Amino acid sequence: MKGIILAGGAGSRLYPLTLVASKQLQPVYDKPMVYYPLTTLLEAGIREIALISTPQDLPRFRQLLGTGERLGVRFEYIEQPHPGGIAQAFLLAADFVGTDPVCLILGDNIFYGATGFNETIRDFKLGATVFGYSVRDPERYGVIELDPKGKIIGIIEKPTTFVSPYAVPGFYVYDGKVVERTRNLKPSPRGELEITDLNKSYLADGVLNVHLMPRGVAWLDAGTSSSLHDASAFIQAIEKRQSIKIGCPEEAAFRQGFISRMDYEKLIGSLPKCEYRSYLENTLSNTF
Ligand code: TTP
Repeated sequence: MKGIILAGGAGSRLYPLTLVASKQLQPVYDKPMVYYPLTTLLEAGIREIALISTPQDLPRFRQLLGTGERLGVRFEYIEQPHPGGIAQAFLLAADFVGTDPVCLILGDNIFYGATGFNETIRDFKLGATVFGYSVRDPERYGVIELDPKGKIIGIIEKPTTFVSPYAVPGFYVYDGKVVERTRNLKPSPRGELEITDLNKSYLADGVLNVHLMPRGVAWLDAGTSSSLHDASAFIQAIEKRQSIKIGCPEEAAFRQGFISRMDYEKLIGSLPKCEYRSYLENTLSNTF
């Protein structure tokens, strides 16, 4: 399975923060936002990752993340000249994806807890899988409609009447047909290739699966000043309480066995003396 991090967009709701650096480079507590979705992919065992962003921001992501070699993975960088919609990622990354299964994560989505991503990826065969996450304000999201047996029968974008509390978070898994399917989509009235339309194409063919996330999973998006602040506060609370870090790609790469202990030690040694480095040093001696 390959992975895509979509980290472009306008970030207009975070203006003026986003005048000089994109949303996904902003800090969420103690690290850049993109570290969180990147770590989610690494923890799911994904080692070939394309990052898509704007022509202005792509060089900064490259500077931040490099080739991936130091984490034992491979990064590819792809430009999105204009925000043409989330599903456009598959056209931009068509060569990268080929006909392999791929998952897409939004660069401003933060997940924590027993999301079920690993199991989904491990057991994935055909079609597409989306997730459902119970929220207080489903009218702001794409929402899953279920029949009485819990089978998905629709996805409704920003419903005006109550459909279900299950919003679709920004983590999606697709089979090798995704590029071809995206090519057949028509832009929406707002001129974008919509991820909901792509998911609906799988649903129409009866191959869209949904996993409802259990209680105890945190899904945060950090797209507004207020949600960015909430995300930082959440991360800080857990990190302080447990003395672990969330969204630490180096640690994830080591725990996944992508790099050897020796390479991990070398990597840590190359960091400036700071709290982040001390934390990584501690991970060498504790095993949880
Ligand atoms: P949004 O938060 O919906 O859009 P945005 O980032 O442009 O922000 P704003 O509404 O404040 O202007 O996008 C969700 C995520 O998807 C975010 O990480 C940016 C990314 N994205 C792209 O990279 N390209 C796109 O064409 C779109 C629509 C979104």
